[in-house]
Amino acid sequence: TATTEHAAARGEGGEWHQHPGSDKERMTTAQGAPVRDNQNTLRAGARGPALLEDVHFREKMFHFDHERIPERVVHARGYGAHGYLEVTEAIPELTSASLFQKAGTRVPAFVRFSTVAGNKGSADLARDVRGFAVKLYTDEGNWDIVGNNIPVFFIQDAMKFPDLIHAAKSAPDRGFPQAQTAHDNFWDFISLMPEAMHMVMWTMSDRAIPRSFRFMEGFGVHTFRFVNAEGESHYVKFHWKPKLGLQSVTWDEAMKIMGADPDFHRRDLWTAIQSGDFPEWELGVQVFDDDFADSFDFDVLDATKLIPEEEVPVRIIGRLVLDRMVDNFFAEIEQVAFCTQNIVPGIDFTNDPLLQGRNFSYLDTQLKRLGGPNFTHLPINAPKCPFHHFQQDGHMAMHAPKGRANYEPNSWSQGGPRTDPDTGFRSYPERVEGEKRRLRPESFADHYSQARQFYRSQTGIEQKHIADALIFELSKVETPAIRERLVSHLPHIDEGLAKAVAEGLGLAQLPDTAEAARAPVDLKAS
Ligand code: HEM
Repeated sequence: TATTEHAAARGEGGEWHQHPGSDKERMTTAQGAPVRDNQNTLRAGARGPALLEDVHFREKMFHFDHERIPERVVHARGYGAHGYLEVTEAIPELTSASLFQKAGTRVPAFVRFSTVAGNKGSADLARDVRGFAVKLYTDEGNWDIVGNNIPVFFIQDAMKFPDLIHAAKSAPDRGFPQAQTAHDNFWDFISLMPEAMHMVMWTMSDRAIPRSFRFMEGFGVHTFRFVNAEGESHYVKFHWKPKLGLQSVTWDEAMKIMGADPDFHRRDLWTAIQSGDFPEWELGVQVFDDDFADSFDFDVLDATKLIPEEEVPVRIIGRLVLDRMVDNFFAEIEQVAFCTQNIVPGIDFTNDPLLQGRNFSYLDTQLKRLGGPNFTHLPINAPKCPFHHFQQDGHMAMHAPKGRANYEPNSWSQGGPRTDPDTGFRSYPERVEGEKRRLRPESFADHYSQARQFYRSQTGIEQKHIADALIFELSKVETPAIRERLVSHLPHIDEGLAKAVAEGLGLAQLPDTAEAARAPVDLKAS
């Protein structure tokens, strides 16, 4: 049959040890041939030229030469650990997802935390958004919540993501690494994208310099759907709340820590888990229906907006515990592939235009980053439930399906897996209609109210940190017009903030306030 079960390829043919003290095993080539000398190349005469037939040298050097794979195009620097999600409250009335049917159910989890803009070798304490990506290995497939530590995003439509990231990472002409200090391109782009103002308030706040991963919240950001066994849908936002509470460092502390220990966050996670101090988060959900969505001031499909917890309280339904470090950084943390499109029956998407674009992007980038279509064969990415399909071949195929049936329908009695109309994934049959257009709806047009709400929710010292961060970052912008354009948005958020930043930057006067709302873009699809 075409059945493909995860074959635990790693363990087959003997374990492969690299820890100090495992000197009992005989060193071999990758082909298994025993090695006599690992110090000297094979040469013609003691001082003569190296010989092409030195199989061991060539294999060793060839493999070393190919150790690197492309780093992630964003979130390149990360660290992760294994653990589990335990469901503390069953919610079958909301979702048919198998893990939520009974309190007490535990599913294995793998979490990767990351910064966004820096490259793989950058420092942990950069002022940046943190990724908070969770892979849940449920008995109905892998479910990934690929979230951040900030509940909103810079942009509303995936079309803008490449521009956002180009502007945020090194400028192409100079290749400076991650902006520990600001740079013109980022602030130029941001000042031209008023929809980013809400997230800018969060990234200038203490949230963007967490004390460690263990003190961070996580958010799924987008509005998703829960769908129950009757086919009824509710909207849902996902939250992770750290048991240790929320803590950040100040910018001054961050600068010192970065100098003293650029690996501070990964060392913290490693040390905590190795010493049995397992970090824990509560899984919370904000659940609401169409009536609430319609009555809400903003569009629930707009990822630059959040649902205030005062209006829809977060209901705690589980706990996530990280209790085991990886065996190997590369095999697990580097090769793990999260994707927003990895959902299971009982969970579904909404039409959030950012989410829809992400569903394409992750799989596409991983095809390249992980060298072909078979990265689900890697143990970290393989489901831990049975899986059966007719996909085959391709680079580095590690499962070997048995039998002749590799298509469906077929009439063979041992014809391989069959679809199941009762339990198979069913998309929520949302009614959709409309003209095919490139139109940003009016409901996405208010870019300042929630920025203001966030700024005003901060304590005095936290507000001062936001103003100080803006002054510091904008003072590194060389082009005066960009500084002024950014400041021109601030009166929409808070007059006092605008004045403080203008003064801190030494502007003679407050620039004219930016136009409040951008007219919706209406370019008819051609
Ligand atoms: C990583 C694209 C928005 C969270 C990535 C990667 C890409 C990407 C290409 C690298 C994946 C890999 O190489 O495995 C996009 C696009 C976005 C978007 C196109 C918007 C249109 C977001 C948002 C969030 C987010 C809104 C948070 C809710 C993450 C995280 C990772 C990541 C946490 C790192 C995953 C890991 O640890 O391996 N994103 N992203 N992204 N993205 Fe996004």
